[in-house]
Amino acid sequence: MAHEKKIYECSECGFESPKWLGKCPQCESWNPFLEKIAKNYTKNKQKKIDTQPVSILEKNHLDEQSKRIPTRIKEFDRVVGGGIIQGAVILIGGEPGIGKSTLVIQVAGLWAKNNGSVLYVHGEESFHQVKERAQRVNALHQNLFMFSSTDMSDILSSIDTNQYSLVIIDSIQSVSNPEVDSLPGSITQVRECTYELVQKAKQLNIPMIIIGHITKEGYIAGPKVLEHIVDTVLYFEGEGKHSLRVLRAIKNRFGSTQEIGVFEMCSEGLKEIADPSAIFLQERPVGVSGSIVFPMVGGSRPLLVEIQSLVGKSRIPQPRRGVMGLNSQRVSLLIAILEKKAGIFLSDRDIFVNVAGGVFVDETAVDLPVVISMLSSFWDLPIASDWAAFGEVGLSGEIRRVNGARIRLNEIAKFGFKTCIIPRIEPSDIPDKAENLQIISLENIKELNQLFENREKSHE
Ligand SMILES: Nc1ncnc2c1ncn2[C@@H]1O[C@H](COP(=O)(O)OP(=O)(O)OP(=O)(O)O)[C@@H](O)[C@H]1O
Ligand SMILES: [Mg+2]
Repeated sequence: MAHEKKIYECSECGFESPKWLGKCPQCESWNPFLEKIAKNYTKNKQKKIDTQPVSILEKNHLDEQSKRIPTRIKEFDRVVGGGIIQGAVILIGGEPGIGKSTLVIQVAGLWAKNNGSVLYVHGEESFHQVKERAQRVNALHQNLFMFSSTDMSDILSSIDTNQYSLVIIDSIQSVSNPEVDSLPGSITQVRECTYELVQKAKQLNIPMIIIGHITKEGYIAGPKVLEHIVDTVLYFEGEGKHSLRVLRAIKNRFGSTQEIGVFEMCSEGLKEIADPSAIFLQERPVGVSGSIVFPMVGGSRPLLVEIQSLVGKSRIPQPRRGVMGLNSQRVSLLIAILEKKAGIFLSDRDIFVNVAGGVFVDETAVDLPVVISMLSSFWDLPIASDWAAFGEVGLSGEIRRVNGARIRLNEIAKFGFKTCIIPRIEPSDIPDKAENLQIISLENIKELNQLFENREKSHE
């Protein structure tokens, strides 16, 4: 009999080591290693994989079926690339209570109505709870089948019993494979179960949506544990107290990761927001310092968001820095550039920067509005409410061009903004619609100081 090989696995991130370690070299958590028997995958894999290479032009019986099927929730379809591809596995992550189950039950209801049978596996909630939600969001349909189970083998056999056209697992942390020597919800279980579900989806060529809870660091399961196994990874985000929710793709094998979908949570479920700029600017305060509007480009669609900063004298030796909705390292870089290149001393200031509405901006075009909002708060001088800005800031303080200038300017003009601060761009990039827009083109952030000085003089 072959000797069973023991290995140690990090319960936080899944890192494997042949010997026990006190600290995980991958996720740096302390004492996370648990002993387990190394599993030999190679034998099973060899049985399943067709080892004969085939020409790419070879006809496959799945070719005709591999089309995109729209869910008919436009904001969802936009994010997944126009619809769900047969055999694709989509992982949706998000914080507790953000509305993941609500979103998928709405998708399931419409899918059952328009495309055929849907299997909804609910391991977390009772049948009554899920039905009550489905009723509230108007997703009841005879083609929607509910299955309450947490056992992976039961789930896999139930998928085989009927010709489902969509399978939903809510959530991956609630299911487990008893053969795997690990607790439900652990990294090993989550990875094994996802792997088995992906195999099933590919074998039957049916799409699957898997819900995953995120850890306090913001990852589903552990860092990059599931991302490479599935085809698409979506995050559902928003601020708890706000009703706005944003769906965005982190990875998509079948579409862009630039697109975002915007929803509003209401008692009838998630309502699509076709024109989100108006909603994002709805509660914007007027005449306060530290606020400016930034036209972000989420894929093909622009979106106006408010960038807010609070820069105040710190009372502690190590000033506080807080960033929400932006890359915090990027903001630290911008603070350093402001100090060095614009001569603004910020080392004794507490600085908080936020994107209102709970949306995450990961474009460098947000640099300029972040810098302007910090300066506005620093000088305590409000920027007129009909001003907007976009542009990247380089390490020498230079303001660089960004893509999508036309789309951004068009959106600003559409919402009646009067002035926009931008990098120097080609006049041909300025759209006709922006003819009433005053454009301030800057080359370096030093010029911003002048802008504020002038404002100060006119203020006096
Ligand atoms: N009657 C209601 N009216 C309005 N909003 C509601 C109502 N019931 C629930 N909600 C909203 O739905 C949210 C919960 O949605 P849902 O259960 O889909 O979240 P989830 O992300 O699946 O949560 P979990 O992580 O617990 O599974 C609540 O936080 C609340 O905002
Ligand atoms: Mg849920």
